[in-house]
Amino acid sequence: MRFARRRTDSREPPLVFAGSASPALTAAICRELGIAPARGETMHFSEGTLFVRALENVRGRNVYVVQSTSYPTNHNLVELLFWIDALKRASAASVTAVVPYFGYGKGDRKDEPRVSIRARVCADAIEAAGVDRVVTMDLHAPQIQGFFRVPVDDLFALPYLVDAVRREGLVSPVVVAPDAGAAKRARRFARSLGAPIAIADKERAEHDERAEVLELVGDVEGRDAVIVDDIVFTGGTLVDVARILGERGAGRIVAAVTHGVFSGGQDRLDACPIAAIYSAGTIEARPDPPPAKARTISVAPLFAEAIRRIDQRESVSSLFEE
Ligand code: R5P
Repeated sequence: MRFARRRTDSREPPLVFAGSASPALTAAICRELGIAPARGETMHFSEGTLFVRALENVRGRNVYVVQSTSYPTNHNLVELLFWIDALKRASAASVTAVVPYFGYGKGDRKDEPRVSIRARVCADAIEAAGVDRVVTMDLHAPQIQGFFRVPVDDLFALPYLVDAVRREGLVSPVVVAPDAGAAKRARRFARSLGAPIAIADKERAEHDERAEVLELVGDVEGRDAVIVDDIVFTGGTLVDVARILGERGAGRIVAAVTHGVFSGGQDRLDACPIAAIYSAGTIEARPDPPPAKARTISVAPLFAEAIRRIDQRESVSSLFEE
């Protein structure tokens, strides 16, 4: 999906602020929109608190703040809340939170006693801060949209990742879902690529991030394989799926994962048989650099087009076409 770079038609273009988690993506979005990022500042104090301030007038304006709730997650989440509050109190006409990666998305249900539904708490906090709309990408579970009462646009990175994988020139590719939960995403990816799918049976016994792939359903022998997932954290899932693909006779293996969190496991990812890991550039900071085989695809044009359409009160639904 490609969009011509164009300025918005309104006399007052959108004001797009960068949170500290997403300065590069914000700059790229603003380039697409033909505007400069709005001026703001974030300060960090010695006792661990932070402070944000808009350095330009936002009164009566449609304002966007781009902030992934990624590493350091709690910090960036709180910063997003303060941005929304600051902009509302400065009389912005509307505040849209552009959250390319929605952290805590895996905490979307109460599946054991005495646990928090963390994604719901985050949604409540963002809403309580005064947000008017949320734009995000590939939520871990699309139902998280329902945790908000304000509108949520959950954009798909899929067309960008499919384009990148096509350029790999894979032979008889098969698209592999690492678990049943990823099957729907993998099926959409496979349809776009014109490939069959295979599904792994993954078990994660504890909260310690260790996953084990027990079985693989589908024919992968002699085919190149694309592992499709929404998030890579420690890489355990990708590494284990790659292992079973190798055992079943797959050829070249690549991965297409929307959110390259890469919170650990860089060495084992670099050592595993996956040739390249494509992700969508929604994460900009990590405790350690990403693996050498990580490849970032810019989704700035898609976010820019979503902002332009929201700002112009145009439909955004065509952005969800595959
Ligand atoms: C699971 O539900 C997710 O879609 C990912 O497969 C998982 O979170 C990846 O985690 P890791 O990279 O630590 O295996």
